Amino acid sequence: MNHIRLENISKIYNANAVQAQSAMALLAEGMDSIEVKSQTGYSVGLYDINLAIKAGELHCIMGLSGSGKSTLIRHINRLIDPSSGKIWVDTAIDAQTNIANDISPKALSSAPINILELEEKALQQYRQQTTSMVFQHFGLVPHMTVIQNVAYGLRVRKMKTAERHDIARHWLNEVGLLNLEHSYPDELSGGMQQRVGLARALAADTPILLMDEAFSALDPLIRSQLQDQLLELQARLNKTIVFITHDIDEAVKVGQRISILNGGRLIQTGTAADLRHHPADDYVAQFMTAKS
Ligand SMILES: Nc1ncnc2c1ncn2[C@@H]1O[C@H](COP(=O)(O)OP(=O)(O)OP(=O)(O)O)[C@@H](O)[C@H]1O
Ligand SMILES: [Mg+2]
Repeated sequence: MNHIRLENISKIYNANAVQAQSAMALLAEGMDSIEVKSQTGYSVGLYDINLAIKAGELHCIMGLSGSGKSTLIRHINRLIDPSSGKIWVDTAIDAQTNIANDISPKALSSAPINILELEEKALQQYRQQTTSMVFQHFGLVPHMTVIQNVAYGLRVRKMKTAERHDIARHWLNEVGLLNLEHSYPDELSGGMQQRVGLARALAADTPILLMDEAFSALDPLIRSQLQDQLLELQARLNKTIVFITHDIDEAVKVGQRISILNGGRLIQTGTAADLRHHPADDYVAQFMTAKS
């Protein structure tokens, strides 16, 4: 069952609707994003992306710098609105992350909505209840303690202090940081800070987790430990995770499927084996042979 589906999504930066149309017409003729930029002055974020991400899937988005990875993931929580296209999200798929009961996500009914049509209040609710994000540079609030950071999303939802701190402690325990609940972010190493970032995203209890280069700033050993921890948690949580990386080894290790972007276009989606044995073009083939 699809959880998220991008339909013909294009994003042309700093262009009005007419300007975006003219850039997209050039892209449709096969012009690449560099040529479009030099001819029109507009930056191509994404062009005509069609991508379905399944419920409970850990889906990696891979590509070189500037290929459109951050642009894509930020459409899913509407930090960015597209120049054209639709974004379907099945909001009937519940967050059921109660580890103790080991419940897998189940859709009560299939009811995809185009999130571009959400009004302000519904959008706010969607952002809080359906998606959470783990950032590359952790994004913790420096004057809040670890537990306050983890409980922050629940505070925004007006949950009582004792209740939200209980939930925060549960997730701090899951990421192995319970003893640090009263520390401040600048007292922690990068790896610890990102564990707090992960605990905060999990505490929000949303069915969709968005991770934009979440492990890229970490040392190789710590990075590998966090990858293992994510896989171990995901085996029990079954969330829908969109995981961005520019590292093919990381994509192959964590991703059930991988989507490869180049110049704002989606080149191929498949398992690591699909990409290795049937690469759609040289760009994909080079990634797969570069894999150690
Ligand atoms: N706010 C913006 N204004 C104008 N152009 C932008 C903006 N954000 C991104 N772009 C352009 O859109 C394209 C895709 O950028 P994006 O940040 O999505 O790439 P990325 O794959 O995440 O790269 P990185 O690996 O460096 O994070 C790039 O050409 C970039 O210059
Ligand atoms: Mg990026």
